[in-house]
Amino acid sequence: MPPLVLLLLASSFLLPPPAASAAEPSSCWPKACGNLSITYPFWVDEPGRPPCGPPAFKLKCNSSGAFLSSSIYQAYRVESIFPKNRSLHVVDINLPLAIGCPAPTFNVSFIARPLFFSKANRELLFLGKCTESQPEPPAGFHSLPCDSSSFVRLADGRNFSSSHVQGGIPPSCFFAFAPVLVPPRWNGDGYLASLRKGFLLEWTEVPGNCSECIASGGECVYGDAVLTFACNCSGSMRNEKCGEFRILKTRCHFVSI
Ligand SMILES: *[C@@H]1O[C@H](CO)[C@@H](O)[C@H](O)[C@H]1NC(C)=O
Ligand SMILES: *[C@@H]1O[C@H](CO)[C@@H](O)[C@H](O)[C@H]1NC(C)=O
Ligand SMILES: *[C@@H]1O[C@H](CO)[C@@H](O)[C@H](O)[C@H]1NC(C)=O
Ligand SMILES: *[C@@H]1O[C@H](CO)[C@@H](O)[C@H](O)[C@H]1NC(C)=O
Ligand SMILES: *[C@@H]1O[C@H](CO)[C@@H](O)[C@H](O)[C@H]1NC(C)=O
Ligand SMILES: *[C@@H]1O[C@H](CO)[C@@H](O)[C@H](O)[C@H]1NC(C)=O
Ligand SMILES: *[C@@H]1O[C@H](CO)[C@@H](O)[C@H](O)[C@H]1NC(C)=O
Repeated sequence: MPPLVLLLLASSFLLPPPAASAAEPSSCWPKACGNLSITYPFWVDEPGRPPCGPPAFKLKCNSSGAFLSSSIYQAYRVESIFPKNRSLHVVDINLPLAIGCPAPTFNVSFIARPLFFSKANRELLFLGKCTESQPEPPAGFHSLPCDSSSFVRLADGRNFSSSHVQGGIPPSCFFAFAPVLVPPRWNGDGYLASLRKGFLLEWTEVPGNCSECIASGGECVYGDAVLTFACNCSGSMRNEKCGEFRILKTRCHFVSI
């Protein structure tokens, strides 16, 4: 009588990658948020789903619009996205957009890499809460129509080194700046129209091709700090996408004869 023989059979089930046309529609794109069509590298955050793109491009979508999740208090509302020249138009909803008062108490200066403020923007400089009464506005500044102890003027560039800023700024005043794409005309509340029109952000090229990785069955993994990209293929990391075949399952069969 032959002893019980164990045969170890390892079988791998290999499936070809989904053909591009037959691929199940990616849950990442296409997406719309109000009138805005969301295209890569932007993606809409949905609970329980792995990220579809780099963290800086995550959008929160609700009935008020699409908001950059990485902005402080999610305050940057996206008005339009121009993938061709890698820029987007946003409005900071925490600015005093209703009546233009009080003067902003924060600098609109934060943005997550690889996004950056476009050089096409100008800057509005605000002086607020001036404690010593100003007999007249400091040089170049206009008082706000709704608050005579606060002032605004247009500046060029984003250079707020102390030598640049301190020049015309009374020490008793609070100072803050905000970028604007359309400079104001000084007809009273012209600066308010500028604030409401918002400003332009740009981004440098994003490494990796997340759509391609997802289409190959992987998940995109981005390193936050240096913005590196990897395609996570069931735990094995690839530079671009998952291999020609993806291994779905490997089973061991013990067969007795
Ligand atoms: C969508 O577009 C229409 C027409 O351009 C405009 O009237 C409407 O205000 C837009 N809605 C939003 C939420 O931007
Ligand atoms: C939409 O989200 C933004 C950003 O978090 C928030 O400020 C706004 O109040 C939200 N709108 C609605 C209608 O919930
Ligand atoms: C990109 O193109 C759009 C639409 O033509 C334009 O409004 C925007 O200013 C451009 N962005 C840059 C950075 O030039
Ligand atoms: C805005 O930035 C300027 C220059 O860096 C600084 O002097 C000022 O205190 C900042 N304002 C606020 C409100 O943080
Ligand atoms: C900002 O202005 C200061 C003083 O004029 C200058 O030394 C510095 O190079 C400027 N920085 C930039 C980034 O333009
Ligand atoms: C990603 O790869 C796909 C398929 O190769 C290609 O059609 C698409 O243009 C690429 N996207 C980017 C942003 O490179
Ligand atoms: C890669 O995907 C596997 C599941 O397939 C997961 O367990 C692992 O945490 C992922 N790795 C990273 C770095 O996201």
